[in-house]
Amino acid sequence: MGKKNIGVQGFTMPMPQAILGSRMDGRNNYMALAWVSRVNYNPSLMMISVGKRHFSNAAIKASGEFSVNIPSVDMIEVTDFVGMVSGGKLDKSELFEVEKGELENAPVISKCPVSIECKLFDSMELPNDTLFVGEVVATWCDEDVLTDEVPDIKKVNPFTLTMPDNRYWDIGVCVGRAWHDGKKMK
Ligand SMILES: Cc1cc2nc3c(=O)[nH]c(=O)nc-3n(C[C@H](O)[C@H](O)[C@H](O)COP(=O)(O)O)c2cc1C
Repeated sequence: MGKKNIGVQGFTMPMPQAILGSRMDGRNNYMALAWVSRVNYNPSLMMISVGKRHFSNAAIKASGEFSVNIPSVDMIEVTDFVGMVSGGKLDKSELFEVEKGELENAPVISKCPVSIECKLFDSMELPNDTLFVGEVVATWCDEDVLTDEVPDIKKVNPFTLTMPDNRYWDIGVCVGRAWHDGKKMK
């Protein structure tokens, strides 16, 4: 069997699934976010890509702040919901309780085991989306998801996304150790 070119469906497999938090005119807003990654070590920078027509896009441009919240598997339904309805049409602010963080406009969702507060560092306009780069100001973790002071993926129990088949997946089992298993080939 050979390889088949399936076009320009350039998605990593899987993608992280997060909830983007922002705040506009004193009102919190949330949207499902899969285009997110760490992009610089020091300072600690995260990039997110947000459609220009999304309410969240305008909110981040207005406040210069946002949060990346990692939901657990038991939050699939509400994560999907905030990915289908715009804050421009519906007030989504009451969907989550929030905690006080370091920033005013980067809501830390209480129910998400991990939340990363970011201050806008840079941005780039792409044809449909804005690529925002945020500097991490604080990362909040529920104490009961930490093992040896770092987030434990089994306890966080996040889920991932595949596109273009649009499915959510749990994280399965640990299959190796990074910066370690390759040493066997040295
Ligand atoms: C699973 C999933 C992942 C999504 N990922 C992104 C993303 O990474 N970037 C983006 O701009 N929109 C993404 N969306 C779409 C937005 O979440 C959606 O359009 C949302 O309603 C925008 O809300 P807002 O207008 O309140 O900002 C995603 C939607 C779903 C269901």
